[in-house]
Amino acid sequence: MPFLFRKASGAVAFIIYLKPISHLSYAFHFKFIARAKKWNADLTYICNMLTDLRSDTFTKPSAPMLEAMFSAAVGDDVFGEDPTVNKLEAMGAEMFTMEAGLFCPSGTMTNQIAIKVHTQPGDEVICENLSHVYIYEGGGIAFNSGCQVKTVKGNRGRITAEQVTDAINPTDIHKAKTSLVCLENTANRGGGSCYDFADIQLIKEVCLQNNLKLHLDGARLWNALVTKKETAAQYGNVFDSISICLSKGLGTPVGSLLLGSREYIQKARRVRKVFGGGMRQAGYLAAAGIYALENNITRLAVDHEHAQLIAVALRKKNWVGEIMPVETNILIFEVKVPYSPKSLADKLAESSILVMPISSTQVRIVTHLDVSTDMIENLIGIINNL
Ligand SMILES: Cc1ncc(COP(=O)(O)O)c(C=O)c1O
Repeated sequence: MPFLFRKASGAVAFIIYLKPISHLSYAFHFKFIARAKKWNADLTYICNMLTDLRSDTFTKPSAPMLEAMFSAAVGDDVFGEDPTVNKLEAMGAEMFTMEAGLFCPSGTMTNQIAIKVHTQPGDEVICENLSHVYIYEGGGIAFNSGCQVKTVKGNRGRITAEQVTDAINPTDIHKAKTSLVCLENTANRGGGSCYDFADIQLIKEVCLQNNLKLHLDGARLWNALVTKKETAAQYGNVFDSISICLSKGLGTPVGSLLLGSREYIQKARRVRKVFGGGMRQAGYLAAAGIYALENNITRLAVDHEHAQLIAVALRKKNWVGEIMPVETNILIFEVKVPYSPKSLADKLAESSILVMPISSTQVRIVTHLDVSTDMIENLIGIINNL
């Protein structure tokens, strides 16, 4: 794993890691960074042999992010005494003009807490049929909240106000009480598709008319905000609760925020404890979140450009079928003979490029902040030769 350090003097030093960084312990990584800093090195990460496009969850904290984590002021967050967690929660709430925030270990936990607080056992939750809360959270809606789900087949992960209206159960003792609508933006299985904000507003009207709460799984909401040139505050004004992930495109190792009213977050804090998500000196992790909110949002546009460049290369290949429209950092495409999703992934892996087969016909590629333009050009060169 070669790294190139530009020293202040202009001299250049190569350091070779014997193993890929993914196999290194963090302790060794920290030591490595400390040594590099002693040499007054500019930690420019030039050449990572591995191009991991399976997900934006594979990002590793950058040197300045690690530095921010190292120097965080911490306390016991279960007692509400971690200043860095408190700062991150306040920062997230302010960005979305919501009253309060809750730092949690994962996006799954923020979604599941959100659903638990909005519902009662026996209620029904409306969501898209490929939404993360439904297909990728281990049946958590039933397990944690005792609710059933009514799924709606959307357009690349997005549903409409009419569909929500049709999915609401009438007041009838035979029927489950519909109490919550969950949207996902960007929609992961929709290929990173974004809602039009006007469509969300129409769904909100339906929710208000029918006394339903509206939750947003915004694991990649930042990507949507950057692409659609929308603001966080717009979303905060419409949703009753929002889950945002810091560990996807924003590049932190751990963490998500749940945002809502003060009263709602107070209840959510209790549920987080019940779910075992109360962390102690979590400020070390929250510091990464603060760093990410301050430094890693606008650069998401680069990831989106990278995804577009890959799509252009794929369109020229006859072994590529339908490519979902590329709106953000996710690219889902159909693979045809002579390849299958698995054989294509295996072929690319021979060049240290990792992609993810997600069905018997489709592959998913996700660009992120650990994938440089050089890596994308390398991938495009390889695609051109397949
Ligand atoms: C749309 C969406 N929501 C929620 C999550 C869950 O996040 P986590 O992996 O932090 O539990 C993911 C994870 O990839 C996701 O893609």
